[in-house]
Amino acid sequence: MSEKRRREFTAGRHCARQALAHLGHEAVALPIGPGRAPVWPPGVIGSISHTGDFAIAAVARKSDLRSLGIDLESADPLEPDLLKLVCRDEEQAALTSYDVDPRLGAKLIFSAKESVYKCLWPVTGTFLEFHAIGIRIDPIASRFTAYGEDPLIEETLKIVCGGYRRVGSLLLSCAWLP
Ligand SMILES: CC(C)(COP(=O)(O)OP(=O)(O)OC[C@H]1O[C@@H](n2cnc3c(N)ncnc32)[C@H](O)[C@@H]1OP(=O)(O)O)[C@@H](O)C(=O)NCCC(=O)NCCS
Repeated sequence: MSEKRRREFTAGRHCARQALAHLGHEAVALPIGPGRAPVWPPGVIGSISHTGDFAIAAVARKSDLRSLGIDLESADPLEPDLLKLVCRDEEQAALTSYDVDPRLGAKLIFSAKESVYKCLWPVTGTFLEFHAIGIRIDPIASRFTAYGEDPLIEETLKIVCGGYRRVGSLLLSCAWLP
């Protein structure tokens, strides 16, 4: 691991253990599992994200949530050359209807897709390209929903819930399966 990677990995695991402590779990090893997803203790689900100098983790009891995924990004506009890679045509068209800088809206769609991917992976084990799913943003409620046509994920996507928040210079999104 590079020094940067070692630091972000350690910070993410530190946050995860803090989150687990809130659920009453002692500090445990959190190995890297299939698809690079963290392996959580029995009965627990969770997610980790890091960007720049920040790391976050969220956990829940399996009895309360089926799965969750979180993503942390700097609240900067998405690089223009990534727009087409990340957003479907209809998502790009919808960006102009939100009351935010469209390039910041594109970053939110990017983050929401990463959250949804992390949420779905433990359930489906399916790698997803960015255009495999679409995101609909509700800027009033700070929520989002996801949709997609792939039969492997279509039904699961219908029940994915999503939320987001800007916290200072950071953009946080979370997707979860009830
Ligand atoms: C997995 C992925 C989403 C991680 O996102 P990232 O912006 O690079 O990095 P983040 O800091 O937000 O998240 C990294 C953490 O996600 C977690 N993670 C990695 N792969 C995961 C997976 N398959 N499922 C769930 N969580 C995963 C890990 O905890 C990782 O941190 P760690 O390696 O320190 O444990 C990204 O690397 C990736 O593979 N993307 C391609 C697929 C995709 O995003 N599709 C979007 C369309 S739906």
